[in-house]
Amino acid sequence: MEKLVIEGGKRLAGKIRISGSKNASLPVLIASIMADTDVVLENVPRLKDIRTTLQLLTLLGCQADFDKDNVVISPGNLTPEAPYDLVRTMRASVLCLGPLLARLGKAKVALPGGCAIGSRPVDQHLRALEKMGASFELDSGYIVGWCNRLRGAHINFDLTTVGGTENLLMAACLAQGETILENAAREPEISDLAGFLNACGARISGQGTSVIRIQGVESLKGCRYRVMSDRIEAGTYMAAAAITGGNLILTNYPQDTLDSVIAKFLEMGVHIWEDAEGVNVENGEPLRGVDVVTLPYPGFPTDMQAQIMALMCIAEGTGTIRETIFENRFMHVLELNRMGARIRLSGQNAVIRGGADLVGAPVMASDLRASAGLVLAGLKARRRTEVLRIYHLDRGYEAMEKKLQAVGARISREKE
Ligand code: EPZ
Repeated sequence: MEKLVIEGGKRLAGKIRISGSKNASLPVLIASIMADTDVVLENVPRLKDIRTTLQLLTLLGCQADFDKDNVVISPGNLTPEAPYDLVRTMRASVLCLGPLLARLGKAKVALPGGCAIGSRPVDQHLRALEKMGASFELDSGYIVGWCNRLRGAHINFDLTTVGGTENLLMAACLAQGETILENAAREPEISDLAGFLNACGARISGQGTSVIRIQGVESLKGCRYRVMSDRIEAGTYMAAAAITGGNLILTNYPQDTLDSVIAKFLEMGVHIWEDAEGVNVENGEPLRGVDVVTLPYPGFPTDMQAQIMALMCIAEGTGTIRETIFENRFMHVLELNRMGARIRLSGQNAVIRGGADLVGAPVMASDLRASAGLVLAGLKARRRTEVLRIYHLDRGYEAMEKKLQAVGARISREKE
């Protein structure tokens, strides 16, 4: 296993190019199996989860791989099974349920277990697909599903679910008739998926709002499509500029996708402005603690919770965070406290007493975004921080240590 070794205290300065979005690429890659002809995708990041998804598509019968900077998917004759040993490494594999039922009328997908941040059930996905005519049974840890042609339905999600909205959006494209998704998730990645599907001939409207309408069509054709850039990666590097008191320019930036994050950073005293070169982030003044509640989009994203918490540790005054999306997404707190942070937890609430004098320590990554929070703290802390088990980080950040080295961070990847 590998670790990141960071000598903290350096102000970061320079340009960072934001990579393509992991959470837009995964559903778009999986949606490609619904097309009759080749799909060419641009701006797909080179991440572990992307390689896992390409493996999944290959297992399903497609040819799928990088061809220079693009990903090319040639749909073959699909087989309906997503095996456990692959799904257990990436829960997003459950997104192939809708497309397989829509294309083949059958699916056998390992039921994704929980993960570090929570139980993460898929009941909303299954209940909604049943309303479209699918039947399911659980067989030795696999979701086995079957249907004649899916038929359009009026679906009300009990809660806002990104994956549930994506699964149903894809399934509805080839269903008979109209599907309406109410209480749909509004994340930009869902609008990107809808943009891709419409470019393949789907008829989707309302994406980005909580009511999405889909008119089923007979088939979808492959297309060339550029996936959006990663808003969480962008938010993470904004926090890196702020926590080190540096000045970064972010290029290939996902416009208009981080309003709630930018609003909180501005409230803390971070300076953010856009010019011809890109989005500039710096702060010349002491940061102030703020109050954050994580919410479905357009609220403050849970995927930026660990990152803003690291920032609050060194801000002046007290900050609070209420995590409303996942039941166990505070595992970075104990590790931050080992570095000298002063964070107190009470249920889903964290109180962060600012002004901490962070000192480097060996810390353990537990999930993708917690790892990012620990790297941020290490960039600020005096002396040496070692972030262990960085395979978590590699799932969602393309060449993070190289991007940070290029703007002055003393960071390297080493064997544990
Ligand atoms: C997506 O996960 C993202 N993953 C997550 O990013 C992100 O944190 C999450 O959305 C919330 O924004 C991808 O896009 C690949 P949900 P997803 O369904 O779709 C509950 C990262 O770091 N729920 O919106 O799994 C669920 O337990 C990852 O990149 C049900 O109860 O999230 C959770 O508490 C981490 N039943 C809440 O809803 C269901 O059927 C939100 O889950 C579905 C979800």
